[in-house]
Amino acid sequence: MSDNTAKPATTDTATDNTKASKRILTGIKPTGTLHLGNYVGAIRPAIESIQNSDDEAFFFLADYHGIIGCYDPAVIHESTKSIAATWLACGLDPERVTFYRQSDVPEIPELAWVLNCSCAKGLMNRAHAYKAAVDVNVDNDVDADLGVTMGLFGYPVLMAADILMFNATHVPVGRDQVQHIEMARDIAGTFNHRYKPLFTLPNAVVDDDTPLLTGLDGRKMSKSYGNTIPLFGEMNPQVSSEKQMHKAIMKIVTNSQLPDEPKDPDDSAIFEIYKAFATAEEVAVMREAFTTGIGWGDAKQALFDKINTEIAPFRERYEQLMNNPKELEEILQMGADKARRHSRKQLDKTRRAIGIRPLAKLK
Ligand code: TRP
Repeated sequence: MSDNTAKPATTDTATDNTKASKRILTGIKPTGTLHLGNYVGAIRPAIESIQNSDDEAFFFLADYHGIIGCYDPAVIHESTKSIAATWLACGLDPERVTFYRQSDVPEIPELAWVLNCSCAKGLMNRAHAYKAAVDVNVDNDVDADLGVTMGLFGYPVLMAADILMFNATHVPVGRDQVQHIEMARDIAGTFNHRYKPLFTLPNAVVDDDTPLLTGLDGRKMSKSYGNTIPLFGEMNPQVSSEKQMHKAIMKIVTNSQLPDEPKDPDDSAIFEIYKAFATAEEVAVMREAFTTGIGWGDAKQALFDKINTEIAPFRERYEQLMNNPKELEEILQMGADKARRHSRKQLDKTRRAIGIRPLAKLK
């Protein structure tokens, strides 16, 4: 892990930041189901890094971010459920981590409004996601703001509220989100300067070591390319999720080399994905098998077995949770309770700082 910005600037009055030196917070947008690339690149490293530290951690489902650009209520609902179940099944401990749904903490959108009122519009004009949407329109010779909602435009402000609400010091994100963290620092700085130093300036943490997986067709594994290996697959009574994973792996594109022909491991998606799941010794054995000519079918089977050893126990828990939404809901409500212990106080301080408070104490 590498911090890509300066040390956290904790202010004297910053709240709730005394127990642990680091407070880690990250949001997960619930759109769609997750694939092996998400597991290797985000879920597994996040869960491992929490297990191996005593930092405070806040993980949440950013459902109010999810509705930006996704107008299908069923997709929002189902993916919130499935993504919550995925993280829990993969070992996220809701006792250890404050795990909640953004929409269960109404103080967050309330804080977003307050931040909106001191955030310069010009800052939002520079956001990559917004600019990309405008560029597409300009290229297509249509109105520059066609399809651009205030939600998309203000996306970084809601994200700043997510982070500043809890005075997070470290925010693990993908590269594409670094600009948003910088904007959160900017927004915090403006507020702190104008009113009172209430908010800690967060640092983006970008992990350059996690592998980027190749997809079935040789391009980067990505939902938008439709080339993914599903992590748990679709819930389907006809085809078990284990079978779905097996089927996807068997579809990995290879060249037409015959069994027994020596193969180049470093030019193979199978070997590359294998490396993300195997020990160094197992990788060395597989490298040798490639050079002595393992058949593609056997290599794929070995890959499936390796992945399945790690995923099968999680899959069982995933299916249990998916079939028991009440248990999921209880876990999320417990998380919301924990989160709101912080957010109520932080919002109260914020409101007082801007001059919004009761006129008098009533008995
Ligand atoms: N914007 C993030 C993404 O698309 C998700 C997110 C929302 C988030 N709020 C956040 C990430 C706060 C980190 C911190 O991936």
